[in-house]
Amino acid sequence: MDGLLKFITCGSVDDGKSTLIGHMLYDAKLLFTDQERALELDSRMGSREGKTDYSLLLDGLMAEREQGITIDVAYRYFTTEKRSFIVADTPGHEEYTRNMAVGASFADLAVILVDASRGILVQTKRHARICALMGIRHFIFAVNKMDLVRYSQNEYKKIEKAIRKLAIDLELCHVKVIPVSATEGDNITLRHSRMPWYRGKTLLEALETINIDEDACEQGFVMPVQRVCRPNHAFRGFQGQIETGSIQEGVEITVLPSGERAGVESILAAGQKATAVGKGQAVTVSLNREVDVSRGCVLVRDARLCVGTMFTASLLWMDDKELMQGGNFLLKLGTKMLPASVMDIKYRIDINTGEHLAASRLYKNEIAVCDIAAASPLVYNTFAMNKGLGSFILIDRITNMTSACGMIEHSLERAENIVWQKTDITRQIRAEKMGQEPVTVWFTGLSGSGKSALANEIEKKLSVMGKHTMLLDGDNIRMGLNKNLGFEPEDRIENIRRIAEVAKLMNDAGLIVLASFISPFESDRQDARRIIGEGNFIEVYVSTPLEVCERRDVKGLYQKAREGKIPNFTGISSPYEIPENAEIVIDTSNQALETSAELVIKALELHGGRAG
Ligand code: ADX
Repeated sequence: MDGLLKFITCGSVDDGKSTLIGHMLYDAKLLFTDQERALELDSRMGSREGKTDYSLLLDGLMAEREQGITIDVAYRYFTTEKRSFIVADTPGHEEYTRNMAVGASFADLAVILVDASRGILVQTKRHARICALMGIRHFIFAVNKMDLVRYSQNEYKKIEKAIRKLAIDLELCHVKVIPVSATEGDNITLRHSRMPWYRGKTLLEALETINIDEDACEQGFVMPVQRVCRPNHAFRGFQGQIETGSIQEGVEITVLPSGERAGVESILAAGQKATAVGKGQAVTVSLNREVDVSRGCVLVRDARLCVGTMFTASLLWMDDKELMQGGNFLLKLGTKMLPASVMDIKYRIDINTGEHLAASRLYKNEIAVCDIAAASPLVYNTFAMNKGLGSFILIDRITNMTSACGMIEHSLERAENIVWQKTDITRQIRAEKMGQEPVTVWFTGLSGSGKSALANEIEKKLSVMGKHTMLLDGDNIRMGLNKNLGFEPEDRIENIRRIAEVAKLMNDAGLIVLASFISPFESDRQDARRIIGEGNFIEVYVSTPLEVCERRDVKGLYQKAREGKIPNFTGISSPYEIPENAEIVIDTSNQALETSAELVIKALELHGGRAG
């Protein structure tokens, strides 16, 4: 026996999924006599003019019988001499992507039906892509209704070729193609003389012999703790199902996320003492010393798992309400449940073409790659390495509905392995060598307000005074470091953040920095102050009124902006927020450049004196 095979059947409406499985159960003599009898009776009123309608066996729900379509995932269990199976029969029409994905998330293999008379449809591609996204590695394409194309080898070859191409496009791993007729029973369990040109396995043979473990890359012992069991003072056991690997009495295990270690004292499986247990078994483990273990912790040995709060995942959105960036949910992964938010929707995947599309919101049935942040450390793995600890669901905190299911692609714990490197030559030593107190003077104001002219004048004066300086200017920085940024609010946030970091580094190098940027948003300026440091930051608001700036229009930009040729132009079509914390305010329309420059130099001298 090759062990349990969990598979999913998918195809478009009327491709014959239910009939296919029904016929397989019937031929393989896997029905009880009363089921067989009921089938005969039901078929008299079925959709095949009194002939046996095998789909009636699978269409478990009343509603779907009446409508003749499948509306939810129907699970069936059956066993042949060679293998046990669980099959999820999933709906075919577009709005039920959700059920399909739920079915696919549990399966090792997908049987995808293709109607021989219609060939590959958009739906076929969609289903194959969802299955692949949900981690299915084995595919059987059953080219059904071969009877409708007179069992033509030519017709089959055309479809087979298209399937092979699809498999390459979608990077499907293991693909088999079988010509069948679900209603007539060809190549379901028995080969028929009607397709002598097909020499491969029948569908049932293929299902019975496929080896799903061949490319399993899960390693080591992993057991998420489901329950802590304390029947008396003397015993404390940790219960759960072994996800991968095995353990024996006496070996050492590690508890995650804490990283504490302990030896395995005893193991109970199915109510009996056991010396060794492995994958799939539900067990109770007790340890040889007190360690802090609760539901959601994971016991591991020789397994590499991630512990952290941030990762990137593919998300299938299933809620009627749309997902917005920053959305907050309960995340359930393995046996752990905790608050989490979707920080960033990186891109949406077009399910029909595979294209990556920009998205700031996600609507029902859409799939996207997102960055997720959990409120506290979580034990997880990538989905490719471990299905159990690599997949999760997001639960709406108010309705308690499952809003999304996700597959982890990679960890985002970049900061975890980064440690601040101390250097012997400090900022202070560098500053002393230059004989000055490093500081950043931040000039903010409208375009044309005179920021750059003022900063330029001050730098000349400082230079004459023997000071070491650097002037950072909006237009110049946007030609190099920030050439990939525009003027949308999110670009401006990033513009100011990078400049603040650069100014800080230059202050560390001992320089006096003059930074001249419109920086129209108060929160960004406050952020710059935070990055550079309150004690090193002097904010100069160049308050020249808009009318004056526009009259000057040195670069001709205001005119263009008024003509609608520059979007998001500060003061015209994008706001400028008046500074709340500026140390100095200068209106260049009623104050000479020289006077203004002196004012700032005075403030700098004061700053130097204060610090020195
Ligand atoms: S900021 O808003 O992000 O701080 P920054 O100071 O870097 O702007 O750049 C402003 C300069 O870019 C202006 O002096 C102007 O020459 C040019 N510019 C081009 N488009 C715009 C725009 N839409 N709004 C403001 N400035 C613009």
